[in-house]
Amino acid sequence: MESACLFITAVVLVGLFPTKFHVTDAAAVWLPATATFYDGPTGGACGYGNLALDDYGINTSALSTALFNNGASCGGCYQIVCDAEKAPQWCLKGKDITITATNFCPPNPALPNDKGGWCNPPREHFDMTPPAFLTIAIYRAGIVPIQYRRVTCTRKGGLRFTVNGNDYFELVNISNVGGAGEISKVWIKGSKTNKWETMSRNWGANWQSSSYLNGQALSFRVQASDGRTRTAHEVVPFNWQFGQSFQSDVQF
Ligand SMILES: *[C@@H]1O[C@H](CO)[C@@H](O)[C@H](O)[C@H]1NC(C)=O
Ligand SMILES: *[C@@H]1O[C@H](CO)[C@@H](O)[C@H](O)[C@H]1NC(C)=O
Repeated sequence: MESACLFITAVVLVGLFPTKFHVTDAAAVWLPATATFYDGPTGGACGYGNLALDDYGINTSALSTALFNNGASCGGCYQIVCDAEKAPQWCLKGKDITITATNFCPPNPALPNDKGGWCNPPREHFDMTPPAFLTIAIYRAGIVPIQYRRVTCTRKGGLRFTVNGNDYFELVNISNVGGAGEISKVWIKGSKTNKWETMSRNWGANWQSSSYLNGQALSFRVQASDGRTRTAHEVVPFNWQFGQSFQSDVQF
């Protein structure tokens, strides 16, 4: 009886004080990891396509398995400093960079974790674009020890929805996400069916629905990883075509 009562109290307390919180720069703790740089498409495994470098694409990174979280970390922002105490010869002291997670750094089982297998689990590793890396370290460093923390993403304009797929399902990629940056749930609604339906993560930032919604204006409700929700009402007009992108006027 007593334990049941405690249990109910706990449930009520958890309900009153949700465990999800906003990503606030000051609250996030600094954690150790390592970083390298690579030349390649920036959008990669998150499915953002090759992000324009004049957009935030220049300041992006691939994440190792331990950080990528099967794509749930796509779109998140991280502030990174080179650990000048550990590597004074490689680090640019006093510099920091904020990157967006847009790609996956795959493990390389052929290489030991500390000799090239930087992205092997359980290592936390950032494989950044060259301009991002060179903001905090020198080129010859190759790999550097870093400290990182999650920060709020700042974006210009609203959430962007790109509709791909075929006559049997929609595959919607959601980019330019501010705030927490990461999306945890998405719902879609057609103007004729007029019913919110849950979408499922297909890969990275791509969400799928197997409803046939061609010829309908589409609305999206998006929940970020901090629990906040935004709704883009009929952001996609009824005459949409696969491959088109639509920028909404909502943002976190
Ligand atoms: C995702 O959307 C962006 C534009 O917002 C586009 O450039 C990119 O190619 C899209 N990715 C896929 C896989 O469709
Ligand atoms: C990329 O990061 C650098 C260094 O912090 C900053 O000066 C620059 O404005 C950023 N670029 C974009 C497009 O966000």
